[in-house]
This record gives sequence, C-alpha cells and structure tokens, in this order.
Amino acid sequence: MIDIHSHILYGLDDGAQNAEDTLNMAKQAVENGIHTIVATPHHLDGTYTNPPEVIRERTAAVEQLLAEHQIPLRIVPGMEIHIHGEVVEELKQDQLLTVNQQQRHILLELPHDHLPRYVDQLIFQIQLAGFVPIIPHPERNKEISADLNLLYRLVKRGAMSQLTAASVAGKFGKNLQKISLEMIKHNLVHFIATDAHNTGSRGAVLAEAYQVINQKVGTEYTKMYQHFAEDLLKGRDCDVPPPIRLRKKLFGIF
Ligand SMILES: [Fe+2]
Repeated sequence: MIDIHSHILYGLDDGAQNAEDTLNMAKQAVENGIHTIVATPHHLDGTYTNPPEVIRERTAAVEQLLAEHQIPLRIVPGMEIHIHGEVVEELKQDQLLTVNQQQRHILLELPHDHLPRYVDQLIFQIQLAGFVPIIPHPERNKEISADLNLLYRLVKRGAMSQLTAASVAGKFGKNLQKISLEMIKHNLVHFIATDAHNTGSRGAVLAEAYQVINQKVGTEYTKMYQHFAEDLLKGRDCDVPPPIRLRKKLFGIF
C-alpha cells in the first residue's frame, strides 16, 4: 500500500522526534503493509517552517537510514501546506513541495475549527495555476463535519480530499467513523492515509481502515483509493467519480 500523508521525517515537526522514532514508524508501516510513504512535514502552520530543501535533504537521510537497517520502505518528499494567502505565488516560485515533486498535487491543510471564507477562491486559483489541492482530514474540520455539503462544494469545484485512516478505522470514536463513511459513500473522498505522527495513538492503521471500507462500503472503493494513490505518485490525474450531494444532515450525532 501507499501512504500519502505521514510525519515520519524526524526532527521537523510534531511527528518523529529522532532517528529512532523514524525507524519505529517505518517498521510499523511495513508491518501494516505499506511499501511507499509520502513524507509530509507541516509547513507554515504557525509553528513549523520546513522549506523544500530541508524536506528533500531529510528525505534522503531517512532513505539512507532505512537502507542501513534493511527496512523495505520507499520515502518520497511532500509537504503538508497550511492554508495561507500566498500559496499560489509560492507554488509558482517553487517555494512549496508538491506530492513526490510531480508539480501537480498539493496537500492543503485547513484550520480545524472553521472553513476560511477565501477557500473557494484559493482553490480556484490553485487550479488555474495548474495544481490540484488535496484537503487532508476534512472529517476533523468542525464546519465540514457538521455539514458535509461544504466538502461537496469544494470537491465539485475540483478539490480532492484525504481521510485519516484512524478516523475510518474507528480509533477516534464512532461519530468520526460514521462521518468518514458518509463522505466515502458520497464520493467526497479520494485517498485514505495514516497522517502518522508516532507508533502509538497516531500510528499506521491503513490496513484496518481499508478493511472497514471493504466491509461497510465495498471493495471497489478500496481498489479505487489504492489506484488513485499510484496516480498521485506519478503526478497523474485521477479519474474521480462525481460527488453526490447529501440530502439531509446526519441525524443524532451532533
Ligand atoms: Fe498531517
């Protein structure tokens, strides 16, 4: 499996703190069935600043570390870009990393508590500049989880989205799992990824998430997500199914 969102690079953010943490996360990922990870350190989230050259260098160092320890895991560079007004300019000037440096997809992190009003316009401008924004963990944004049609609107306008595997697997509770499955059923999701920060509460549970999807939604979704992850690594556009608007709010869970 491919994991498109992970904080496995040590010493850059609130993920792995040292080389030992990275090695332990890598071993856990391999045990979970993951063969390739897009390393996505936080960038410009108000706490961490990790420009492309820093991430490229640390990716290379970690690849060497994994080779020395004979861990069969490929790491490619990426970045979790916190939403800000200069995203388009910085993309054009190569100041941000795209997924696997394919100059096509970016991970664009939203605030957790609300949806900024300029999101629609920014997403439009990002696409106009030739890039595709992927919104990580939309299920954890308070406004979106209360009204999934906000995500429908963004997807309809060309954004993609990625659920956290632990949300799907039920590790963050039944409500978040239910919201995640509704997003999947309405074609509002295109990737499942670990967003791993450690080997404990925020570890790699991608296989568990796919199992839940197989049982509760259908194996065709698991296959589609894995296919899209392969497309992503190559910078290819994904053949996404049309999003479905929700007719009613999810009752009883808010
Ligand atoms: Fe993340």
